[in-house]
Amino acid sequence: MDLKAKMLRDDALKGKTIVVTGGGSGLGKSMTTYFLELGANVVITSRNIEKLQTVKKELEEKTGGTVLPVQCDVRHYDEVEAMVKAANDAFGSVDVLLNNAAGNFISPTERLSANAFDTIIDIVLKGTKNCTLAFGKHWIEKKETNKTVLNIVTTYAFTGSAYVVPSATAKAGVLAMTRSLAVEWAKYGIRFNAIAPGPFPTKGAWDRLLPGDLKEKFDLAKKVPLKRVGDHQELANLAAYLVSDFSAYLNGEVIVIDGGEWLKGAGQMNLLEEVPQEMWDMLEAMIRSKKNKS
Ligand code: HXC
Ligand code: NAP
Repeated sequence: MDLKAKMLRDDALKGKTIVVTGGGSGLGKSMTTYFLELGANVVITSRNIEKLQTVKKELEEKTGGTVLPVQCDVRHYDEVEAMVKAANDAFGSVDVLLNNAAGNFISPTERLSANAFDTIIDIVLKGTKNCTLAFGKHWIEKKETNKTVLNIVTTYAFTGSAYVVPSATAKAGVLAMTRSLAVEWAKYGIRFNAIAPGPFPTKGAWDRLLPGDLKEKFDLAKKVPLKRVGDHQELANLAAYLVSDFSAYLNGEVIVIDGGEWLKGAGQMNLLEEVPQEMWDMLEAMIRSKKNKS
């Protein structure tokens, strides 16, 4: 199986302009690359303009597409409004907002300062709100339609998770925003969906979630029924579909792409995966022998 196979036809995103927050690294960069290969113009934003300029050069050379790098800290509404203007000035209009920027680190919650908790909420929830509100107001005021917002959440947006409580809290808020606006803004021709990825190795996430030898200690692939982490192209394929017109009837959905990871943690008897095949004859015999004895 070729996990790097590209799913959509070459011109699937031709004519679309897509804003990817946090588009200069990790999953944002991988999705940006594929959108460019499919013919879209992409605006990549983050706090670090030098990094974005380097990525622009690299991806334009690699794909022949057009990238506009814009410095924008999603926590500040004035910077987000300036980014919306820069994107519209450059391309005339924007069709897709991909809220991908995030901040996160592991910590027992009682060790967090109020500011540490706020920092994550501000990047993830307030940042997504800032970008969504700024683009939404613009699209509604200009009566522009056929727009899509795609939010990157996590599976713990609906399960919750210890040791990443600010992130879980914020991602749950983003998921609620996704589902709420999918209904409220459908009348303006704006649809909302979300992706909840399982483990897809990136430097940004791994340095903060699995520092030092935690990487070896907690092999995330082992938590996944499919026994592997995700390939970035698998996520990029799903994201490209969700921002394309092929998914025009999908609205308010969160799609999990995690190899079955969260369900493995949830099912009460899933721990029986640990039972070796050769033990099942004995276990069955033990269970059958109890028939009519209780
Ligand atoms: C406790 C910490 C801390 C830590 C920072 N703080 N790191 N507290 N443990 N490890 C505290 C600081 O002391 C400060 O509080 C407050 O948090 C803000 O820290 P700053 O460094 O001033 O913030 P800033 O420069 O804005 O950086 C934000 C950041 C940083 C989130 C802390 O890591 C960052 O820039 N991250 C962006 C990229 C990222 O996180 N990527 C991973 C996404 S992965 P005080 O009180 O001292 O002022 C992801 C995966 C989901 O989301 C699921 C995967 C399976
Ligand atoms: P990453 O490379 O660290 O991506 C985070 C991006 O957000 C960076 O490009 C960063 O750029 C940007 N960013 C952070 N704070 C910002 C701010 N205040 N304003 C603007 N941009 C900001 O990590 P990743 O793994 O690719 O994560 C991408 C998305 O996937 C996130 O939403 C994450 O929660 C989600 N996710 C990842 C995984 C995984 O396994 N990797 C699993 C589930 C969900 P700058 O530092 O330059 O600002």
